[in-house]
Parts: sequence; C-alpha cells; structure tokens
Amino acid sequence: MSEQIEKITAARDYIQARTQIRPQIAVILGSGLGALADEVQVDATFPYSEIPGFPVSTVAGHAGQLVLGTLVGKNVVIMQGRFHYYEGYPMPRIIFPIRVMHALGANSLIVTNAAGGLNPDFDPGDVMLITDHINTMGDNPLIGPNDEEIGPRFPDMTHTYTPDLRNMAINIANSEGILVRQGVYVATSGPTYETPAERRYLRSIGGDAVGMSTVPEATVANHAGMHILGLSAITNKATGDADQQADSHEEVLAMAKVAGEKLVRLVREVIEAMPILEYVTPDQLVEIIDNNMTQIAHVFDHTLLKPDAIAQQITQLCQEAMEYNFASVCINPTHVKLAADLLKDSHVKVCTVIGFPLGASTSEDKIRETQETIADGATEVDMVINIGALKEGNDKLVEQDIAGVVQAAHSRGVLCKVIIETALLTDEEKVRVCHLAKNAGADFVKTSTGFSSGGATAEDVALMRQTVGPNLGVKASGGIKTLADAKNMIAAGANRIGTSTGVMIVQEAQAS
Ligand code: HPA
Repeated sequence: MSEQIEKITAARDYIQARTQIRPQIAVILGSGLGALADEVQVDATFPYSEIPGFPVSTVAGHAGQLVLGTLVGKNVVIMQGRFHYYEGYPMPRIIFPIRVMHALGANSLIVTNAAGGLNPDFDPGDVMLITDHINTMGDNPLIGPNDEEIGPRFPDMTHTYTPDLRNMAINIANSEGILVRQGVYVATSGPTYETPAERRYLRSIGGDAVGMSTVPEATVANHAGMHILGLSAITNKATGDADQQADSHEEVLAMAKVAGEKLVRLVREVIEAMPILEYVTPDQLVEIIDNNMTQIAHVFDHTLLKPDAIAQQITQLCQEAMEYNFASVCINPTHVKLAADLLKDSHVKVCTVIGFPLGASTSEDKIRETQETIADGATEVDMVINIGALKEGNDKLVEQDIAGVVQAAHSRGVLCKVIIETALLTDEEKVRVCHLAKNAGADFVKTSTGFSSGGATAEDVALMRQTVGPNLGVKASGGIKTLADAKNMIAAGANRIGTSTGVMIVQEAQAS
C-alpha cells in the first residue's frame, strides 16, 4: 500500500469507526454557504483537527468540520469549510479530504464556492452552475508521483463537471423558479482579489466567474472518477470595467448568504433527485455481509418479470420489498404505475426494464420507453443492449443506443443499468461492451435478463468488475436462487443482485 493510500485509509477508518453512515454524496460548502449543514440529520461531526491527516482551517467564516448524516434520505458527507491554497497549504493537503470522502464511499461531489462575477450579465446574489474551469493557480494538485490505484497519470478533463448532474440542476431550478447562470469558473491562487486589468484578462480567456478554490478539489475528484456538480454563489461584480467597485471580504460573505439561500434549496433538491449512485462498493459490501448478513437485502432487486405476472403478485412483491428493505422491485413497464403508487412512501425503488428481453428494439423506442416508464414512476431502468450490433462490431451504435437511454434516465434523476446478456457473448465482447457502457455514462453493468440461454456466473461478474473498476455498479442476475449464490456473486464483485427468491435468501441469512 502506498504512503498516500495508507494515510487516506487511516482517516477513513477513523471516521468509519465512529459512524454507521456510509455516504454516497460528498458536499463542500464554501464561504458563507454553511446553512445546508443545518438541514442534515447529523450522525457524527468531526472537527478537522481531530481527523488523522487533515489540515486545520484558519480563515474567518470557515467552520472547519466534517459532517456525516442524511439529507432528504441520502447519506452525505459534508465539508463545512475548506482548505485554500492562499492559506499556505500545499496542494496535497488541500485535496486530502476529497480522497477521504471518496474512500468513505462518495461517488458524487457537489462543490460550492463564492465567486466574483466576471461576466457583466451576472449580479451579486446570482447562482452559477460551473460548466468548466480554468486553472490559473500556478499549481496542480496531481503534481508528484501518481497512484494508479486512485486514478490515471494523465486524467481526461473533458467532462469534469458532469453534464447529467448539471442538466438535472437546470431542470430543478426551472421548476423551482430559481434563476441559474452557467459559465466557466476561473481559479486564482488569491489571497488578493484581482486587479481590474487581471479581471479583463480573465474575461478575455473565457472566464465567467473568478474565485480562489474549487479547481483543486474538482481536479482530484475527477481523477478518482467522481461525478461532479459545481455551483458558484456570485458575490460581487468583478468585470474590471471602469465602474469596478472596490472589493471587501465582508461584502462577499454577506452576498454569499443571499445567493446561498437559493443555492441551498437547489442543492437539496438535486440531492433528492440524484441518481442513486448509492450502490455500496464491493469492499463495503463484503464488510457488510461479514458483519451483518441480514443487510444483504439492501442490494437485492426483488424481481418479477414473468409475462403472466398479475397485479396481485406485484402488490405482494412491493409489500415484501418494504418489509425486507430491498433496494427495488424489478418489474415490467406495465406494472410500474401500480408499484410506484404502492411504494411512494418507502425507500424502495421502482426498477423497470427497457428493450426487454431481446434488446432488439430501436434506440428511439428504448428512449421513448424510458421516458414513459419514468413518467409512470420508475426510478431505475435496466436496459438491454443491442446484442446483434455488438456482434457485428458496430460499437458506435451500441454506445449510442446505451447513451440515449442513460441520458433520458439521468436527466430525470433516474439510475440506469445496462444488461449485456453475458450468456450470448465472448469474453472479448463482454469487455468491449463494459467499456462502451462506461463511456455512455451508465451507472451499472448487469449480466443477464434471465430469459436467455444462461444467467450470471461468478467469472463473468469478476470480469465485468475488473473491466469497469470500482466506481461503476455490477449487477448479477439470472439464476441466483440461494444465499450461497448471492454471496458468491458479491465476492466476485457484484454490488446489486437481481433475484426472485430474495425473501427466501434473507430468511436463510437470518437463520444462519
Ligand atoms: N475574486 C476572487 N475570489 C472571490 C471573488 C472575486 O471577485 N469574490 C468572491 N470570491
């Protein structure tokens, strides 16, 4: 284990020993934006000074603690106060908390800041969604030896700020009547505010807002494969034009509060709607079932996809799912409305299938089916790939087919799993399609429909896990009947299980 990973692991272990919360979403609250933390049902709070390896924050207005708890039903870890380059911390220390939050299980990062409005259209009190950034800090947090276990040496930064999350935020802002700007965030080292000439220069290179944070954190989160939503509270006009007013930190904090009210509302709604990239990681899962086997239910999609299923059986399926706390019910589109109604007050997701079971319908049909089932109340969709196109080597079509469904799902806050139907594929094809699904933005790859010539095997699950890495889900389904089957799949790397015998398996786990 590298020294870096040892330090991250020590901080993670310290936190995990003191809270049961396993966060899916990390949030960084910038200057004057601390109010979101007040809405969290707090399980544990850690002053930064207490956590091994964390630096200590020094600036007025930065509380300096890590908060773990639940917010609108999601497990979150919140940095209340952050570390700035201008405080004199070296980059590796500034970004250490991001790596710890990722190690705690967070796959998404919501990063907020206070920023000056370079764009003359922006007013103090506005909220800006960050579309991209420019790093003028003169430093990069990834300089130094690279740990391949964390991320690649030369990370791609094309989609640092996840388009799906941004689209979701825009849709929510529109429906909530919140005006949001969009633009490019420029990071300077600070601590000085910019001269008017610098601000005109930053505008000329494409900046819309300027601040002294966020870029190091987003760079490192992107390196680790996290999904990122960035938001700026515009606190002052920073155009550098002839009418440029002098800057004051007090004014910035006061305006951050004004924008902060909108920003907090938006972030809360986004978290509520966020695709539940909340699957537990394979390592977490092994730990869970080692310590508390009955929790195995949380990873089951309680499944009834038989063509002759009737409403009464779907009703029973939903009741069992609530009783046993299954992740979802997995049902045909025709039953989605009924299940959504029965499960509306529970945490159980409504999972349905798209292009089922052959995958041979057109992309247009799959997208339409996705939109319609989501309108009916589906909160997860499992889509079957175009298997023939994969066999023909038409990877472009396969990826576009997946991306269409992923986009239709994610723009509505719905999670998407991609069924590759392993029984029909060679190993080379399995690896190829896993890459295509990952590129298309899928949340999970899934082995089988259960309606083909074979179901899940541990070898296939292991191959899929190895191909997609730790940050994507792997769902094993098809032929999983016993506790031993389920444990076998989890040990191979699955973190979701599709089965029709979930009740029996959980009872077996309770008895063991
Ligand atoms: N410049 C840099 N950082 C900032 C500003 C600004 O104008 N406003 C808030 N943070």
